[in-house]
Amino acid sequence: MIRPHMQHPQTDRQTMTTLARDRFLDDSLTGLNDSPKRLPCKYFYDRRGSQLFDQICETDEYYLTRTETTIMQRYAGEMGQCLGEGIRLVELGSGSSIKTRTLLDHLIDPVAYVPVDISREHLLASAEQISDEYPDIEILPVCADFTKPFTLPNPSAKPSHSAVYFPGSTIGNFQPQAAQKLLHSMAQMCGQQGGLLIGIDLQKDREILERAYNDDEGVTAAFNLNLLHRMRKELGATLDVEAFEHHAIYNQQQGRIEIYLRSQVEQTIHLDGQSVRLEEGELIHTEYSHKYTIDGFAQMAGEVGWTLRRSWTDANNYFAVLHLIVL
Ligand code: AVI
Repeated sequence: MIRPHMQHPQTDRQTMTTLARDRFLDDSLTGLNDSPKRLPCKYFYDRRGSQLFDQICETDEYYLTRTETTIMQRYAGEMGQCLGEGIRLVELGSGSSIKTRTLLDHLIDPVAYVPVDISREHLLASAEQISDEYPDIEILPVCADFTKPFTLPNPSAKPSHSAVYFPGSTIGNFQPQAAQKLLHSMAQMCGQQGGLLIGIDLQKDREILERAYNDDEGVTAAFNLNLLHRMRKELGATLDVEAFEHHAIYNQQQGRIEIYLRSQVEQTIHLDGQSVRLEEGELIHTEYSHKYTIDGFAQMAGEVGWTLRRSWTDANNYFAVLHLIVL
């Protein structure tokens, strides 16, 4: 059974599109006028950006998706046991819920699955599909931005407790303070006895990391540059996309990959009546991807109410899936 929950049911699609465009414009102007210049990574994901991200996951260099899938396939049985019987599973940023199936297959009599995603069409289409495949689990999709407060739907049967599933190392794209805030809201959402199953990318050799974000085919470069194409197409920005290049480096001290767009020439971006000057070689920051140690992550999550219970890694120790609980 499927029962969709929209956070703003009264807002029509046209208004949503206009609001989204205004937010994109505001964030772009704020970021480009900042020093150093920046653009938020959440704008990577239009239709083209999402396709490019799927392609990144297939490249030889980007080990993350492959490795996490291997861990899930190998240990989903243990994870299901750890999460416990009769839970309400909440997945944040569910997308096509691809990795979720491996987990759903191993949960013990789950009461409900709540996929949460901002993209309404994508969410509903994949919820329909999951509902067909898992007729015994109540599917309660929520269309919402999971970084903002939203109401968790109540299943018809009472769950033993709730658990959040947050795979893909998406937590790594948040700066530590924002990551902690999100972890705190997850703990609040789940309450006592609540669980969290989260995928994190582990710290490793610089070469492996930098290769993962500088693939030979240039898919990650296209993904990064797509942000500028979006600004031209959707916001009417005047800029020379060809004069920018993708730049990704590992900052070992901060334990993070840093992604930038580098202007190869001196140029001016015109956006909404404003002019933003870029020097030759100037960088626009677009994304951080934090790499953790299991202990470091457990400590950060511990400060906002989570206790690490179990962790599973691959043979190379490239990636980890952690189970944490609220005591
Ligand atoms: C979605 N996220 C976990 C990816 C990452 O690895 O940080 C986004 C990405 N950016 C470039 N390649 C992949």
